Amino acid sequence: MKIAIGSDHAGFPLKEAIRKHLDEKGIEYTDCGVYEAVSSDYPVQAKLTCEKIVSGECDRGILCCGTGIGISMAANKIKGIRAACCSDYFGAKYTRLHNDANVLCLGARVIGEGSALELVDVFLNTEFEGGRHQRRVNMISELENSD
Ligand code: RB5
Repeated sequence: MKIAIGSDHAGFPLKEAIRKHLDEKGIEYTDCGVYEAVSSDYPVQAKLTCEKIVSGECDRGILCCGTGIGISMAANKIKGIRAACCSDYFGAKYTRLHNDANVLCLGARVIGEGSALELVDVFLNTEFEGGRHQRRVNMISELENSD
């Protein structure tokens, strides 16, 4: 599995911690920036990161901003992206099981690093259940296609 990661300036320290965590676990990733904690606009990194998933170059994404909310809003505007802003273990697990979320969004100013890394692990290690949930995920895709 290959991961795309990205953040704005507020999420940068957490992205760096996640990078180290993925390195330690031997999980391959592409870092879509930012590469230093200079002020940046989170839709830019949301787009760069999500494009890697939509193109098939990466399987899942992890995005960080201050709250995790703005960057998830931006990510969810991209066709094919199901981004979930999570701050608890149950949410990070069930958004994989039930929503087949392909992007995890984290708020660096909301949760601590230890908790964030646990959410990353459960998000990456949990598979979609399919079944009745597939129908609902398909309905989300239909919403994307209706103007
Ligand atoms: C940046 O100050 C902050 O607004 C951003 O990281 C994020 O929290 C937006 O949702």
